[in-house]
Amino acid sequence: MNALLSLAHNAPKAELHLHIEGSFEPELMFEIAQRNGVKLPFSSVEEIRAAYDFANLQEFLDIYYQGMSVLLHEQDFYDLTMAYLRRAHNDNVIHTEIFFDPQGHTERGVAFADAIGGIARALDDGRKNMGISSRLIMCFLRHLSEDDAHATLEEAKPFLPLIDGVGLDSSELGHPPAKFKNVFAKARDLGLHLVAHAGEEGPPAYVWEALDILKVQRIDHGNRALEDEKLVKRLADEGMCLTVCPLSNLKLCVIDNMRNHPIPAMLAAGLKPCVNADDPSYFGGYVNDNFTALIDALPLTRADIEALLRNSFDGSFMSDSEKAAALTKLDAYLAGV
Ligand code: HPA
Ligand code: ZN
Repeated sequence: MNALLSLAHNAPKAELHLHIEGSFEPELMFEIAQRNGVKLPFSSVEEIRAAYDFANLQEFLDIYYQGMSVLLHEQDFYDLTMAYLRRAHNDNVIHTEIFFDPQGHTERGVAFADAIGGIARALDDGRKNMGISSRLIMCFLRHLSEDDAHATLEEAKPFLPLIDGVGLDSSELGHPPAKFKNVFAKARDLGLHLVAHAGEEGPPAYVWEALDILKVQRIDHGNRALEDEKLVKRLADEGMCLTVCPLSNLKLCVIDNMRNHPIPAMLAAGLKPCVNADDPSYFGGYVNDNFTALIDALPLTRADIEALLRNSFDGSFMSDSEKAAALTKLDAYLAGV
């Protein structure tokens, strides 16, 4: 194997942009659909995979919400999360910060407690049995109203010890960050971390709003920030982490070819991207597959790969001591290869 590929694959790393519902592999989807007596509009795993051919974010989201609709019980959410943790462990992920979309479940009548309970129980087992530390980020669906997001935050209150932050996902165009100004302020008052998807399909103005109006601590994606020089300077000056998702960008036609992925330009501009899977079951792979796609297509150097790995810990919500320990682990690994 190419030396850079094996360096990236074997390195300890953090994953900071992973929708747990987007890690739902078709095999498990069929298994859970069967045990819940739910009928999927597909007759085989092959048929499902063949449907994963998207021209944009919305085409993906339509099928993503359909897929998650077979999740009904606490055990379903546990199994989903545990399957992801096994794949992450295999890719040497030692820390993960995962998103979940409670509104995608509660609007179908699933109890908030069952969704978060299953996810949190698996994260706890992942920590005990695989040594993977984690944080849980509750995303608001931006195509719904801010009132709906407020109601979701209220519903989350009994579970706040399990929740580390809030995020913003779903259909970006037409739903600017400013729409969620008040609910993000409330989440900040509750001591939650703040992140938002911005600049995936939306313009640089949405990234400005995420920074200035929502006061986020990370930008999820951020690709289109590169169109605005002042914004690039702002992100670089603040050392803002961008949770970038190469295979997602390709599958959702945010880029036309991996050779045109903006990661090299981001690194050259002094930004802090890290590499993530986003929705691995839908986009063609987990975090190491994303490193493979980048390394195969682009003239990345060893220093670039090291920076991407460091940024994954630097940009995380680990405590200072956890972060220092993870970076020491990474440095020890890099010194030996
Ligand atoms: N973008 C926006 N919303 C999402 C995504 C994404 O890539 N994945 C799941 N929800
Ligand atoms: Zn995402």
